[in-house]
Amino acid sequence: MNADEMKRQAAQAAIEYLPEGGIIGVGTGSTVNHFIDAFADVKGRFDGAVSSSEASTERMKKLGIPVLDLNATGGLEVYVDGADESNRQLHLIKGGGGALTREKIVAAASKKFVCIADESKLVDVLGKFPLPVEVIPMARSYVARELVKLGGSPVWRENFVTDNGNLILDVHDLEIMEPVKLETQINQLAGVVTVGIFAHRPADVLILGTPEGPKVVKP
Ligand code: A5P
Repeated sequence: MNADEMKRQAAQAAIEYLPEGGIIGVGTGSTVNHFIDAFADVKGRFDGAVSSSEASTERMKKLGIPVLDLNATGGLEVYVDGADESNRQLHLIKGGGGALTREKIVAAASKKFVCIADESKLVDVLGKFPLPVEVIPMARSYVARELVKLGGSPVWRENFVTDNGNLILDVHDLEIMEPVKLETQINQLAGVVTVGIFAHRPADVLILGTPEGPKVVKP
């Protein structure tokens, strides 16, 4: 079974975790695209979705799913999103698609975070996947120097601007033994908008697509 089929399975399984109705938080990425397609089949039950990116907004609108403003909806029951890596505590690396800031906001505003991924995303230690950091453009070089002091090798994601008009540094060569601590340290650097470690607010459940079918991991 290929990775895309495993992503599709995990996304389909996430439908079971949705409440009876209301508004759902929706993440970004190729796994979430499968979720949006599955969500469209049951959209009649729901008032709509809060989106974490322009890309997901566009896909949902095409499928007739109302997209609502988080400022108007208040808190959400469930947020569904993918990840680039997860450890067994369900601390995540996110932001491979550059949507990490809005993803972190919607995750923070949601009672339950259901993460969907193919089995390759589960790792023992976070950091093999380069850690995305969204930065204000004028802070790019300063933040990069500070990330070197923390042991990383930051690479500017060239020709890429986030939905918020900012830049991304992808930090290689990190072995993230203390995700909560590193999330705090990087978030405190002047000019950092968001670091792609989701450890202060980890996922609550991880649905992994595997060749044997979807498997559920809880911390
Ligand atoms: C988007 O910015 C990311 O956080 C995605 O959630 C993450 O990159 C997972 O993407 P895939 O589902 O495409 O692997």
